[in-house]
Amino acid sequence: MNKTLRKAVIAGNWKMNKTPAEAKALIEEMKPLVSDADCDVVLCVPYVDLQAALEASEGSNIKIGAENCHWEVSGAYTGEVSAEMLKAVGVDYVIIGHSERRTYFGDTDVTVQKRVRAALDAGLTVILCVGEYLEQREQGITTEIVSMQTKIALGGVSEEELKRVIIAYEPVWAIGTGRTATAEQANEVNKAIRDVVATLYGQAAADGLTIQYGGSMNAKNAEELLAQPDVDGGLIGGASLKAADFSVIVRAASK
Ligand code: 13P
Repeated sequence: MNKTLRKAVIAGNWKMNKTPAEAKALIEEMKPLVSDADCDVVLCVPYVDLQAALEASEGSNIKIGAENCHWEVSGAYTGEVSAEMLKAVGVDYVIIGHSERRTYFGDTDVTVQKRVRAALDAGLTVILCVGEYLEQREQGITTEIVSMQTKIALGGVSEEELKRVIIAYEPVWAIGTGRTATAEQANEVNKAIRDVVATLYGQAAADGLTIQYGGSMNAKNAEELLAQPDVDGGLIGGASLKAADFSVIVRAASK
């Protein structure tokens, strides 16, 4: 496996944090710290922060994403935001299928597939999240779970469209808990995901796919995780809210 075939992507997921003014301040702080990154740097922020984040990041190497999108272009869906709307404000990336959406807001593999479809149709790059619950890991069915999530989410996605898909492996038990997967565990599942993608699209497409790890990645453990052959970046929650910590992770991915 050749890591040089794909670009590392470090993406922050701010979740439900930061007002627009706070978003602007944090991005201003981050800009000089990540300006020489040899990886893609993305910040996925709450909808109301998008405009401020886009303005603050303009002219820098920081790209902006949203944390979800609806599958319809428009319509009677109170409280929802479409992929077309995100594209219209200048957003490039969108997280789909985060475990918090699946656990708290009823997202299923089927709605994840529909959201992926809509995001790709709108021209966005998708950060597709997959990952197992602790009980599933303990049952020894992690590979089955992430394989199924990956296959369903990618249903109908062409090989050409796959170039605008990043997969983030996020074991649910490692999110926000301080309990990180070991580098070996992260690499093992990332490789399993790549193998599934190879069965669907062929080895060359799979080798070109960026597969991130997410779940308590921080300034201390990032280097070891990112050194793994199948870990091509990170999706960072808590540590993306601190400019200094986030920039250490970006630097670790740039090595
Ligand atoms: P933490 O980095 O806070 O564990 O969150 C990970 C995550 O859910 C990123 O999407």
